Amino acid sequence: MKYRTAMISDLPEVAKLYVDGFKHQLHTIFGRHIPEKIFIDFLYRVRKLEKNGFIVACENGKIIGFTIMSVNPFKLYAKIFLLSFFPSVYSLISGRYSGICFHKALKSFLDFVKFSQKSSFADKKYKNAGQVITMVVCESMRGRGIGGNLLHRGLDYLKKSKNTVKLEVRQDNFPAVHLYKKNGFVEIGIVHSKVGCSLIMVKHL
Ligand SMILES: CC(C)(COP(=O)(O)OP(=O)(O)OC[C@H]1O[C@@H](n2cnc3c(N)ncnc32)[C@H](O)[C@@H]1OP(=O)(O)O)[C@@H](O)C(=O)NCCC(=O)NCCS
Repeated sequence: MKYRTAMISDLPEVAKLYVDGFKHQLHTIFGRHIPEKIFIDFLYRVRKLEKNGFIVACENGKIIGFTIMSVNPFKLYAKIFLLSFFPSVYSLISGRYSGICFHKALKSFLDFVKFSQKSSFADKKYKNAGQVITMVVCESMRGRGIGGNLLHRGLDYLKKSKNTVKLEVRQDNFPAVHLYKKNGFVEIGIVHSKVGCSLIMVKHL
């Protein structure tokens, strides 16, 4: 198993893993058809802005897991929004994101902003913390420590400039909650949203 920072050529595989890993939540937002291109474009921006926090696990040339960590999540999302707004509108109009209408895209974006506001209210004290943005391991490879290894590598990256890290995780996501608790994260709040309840967790690095 090899762990390294993500390359542009990895992004289609990573986007597929992301869509598979969060299919239930994404179906609630987008319906049956989830356009992977949206995630490829999003991941492209993330890689550009937070290259060393975007870590993949690969075996025999195949990507089997990834994590994204950010030293400044607010800045990361703000930059992604500014860089993506007009290209995204163009992609929606031109049909590059076929299957998703402008109304749905805007609604999910506003839901995300609402969730982020609630979550930053819950953890005001930790507004300068780094963040575990996401992590996914291919379903058939779970339970072998790959998620734990990705987490450790990501935290090593954050540790260089941050002394606290936070994350949001669905309360009913038992494997993820178990993994985070096992690695020293503690619950500091809970946020209720349309897709369920999410725990806010933090860890001192
Ligand atoms: C969360 C995730 C990345 C973990 O990856 P992984 O490679 O399985 O992680 P690890 O093997 O290092 O650890 C998983 C732990 O969860 C445990 N686990 C698995 N299923 C579980 C369950 N239903 N309830 C509680 N714990 C569970 C495993 O036993 C293991 O703990 P252990 O090492 O003490 O035995 C993976 O489950 C995943 O991709 N989930 C879908 C995407 C997701 O939810 N990401 C997190 C978003 S915040």
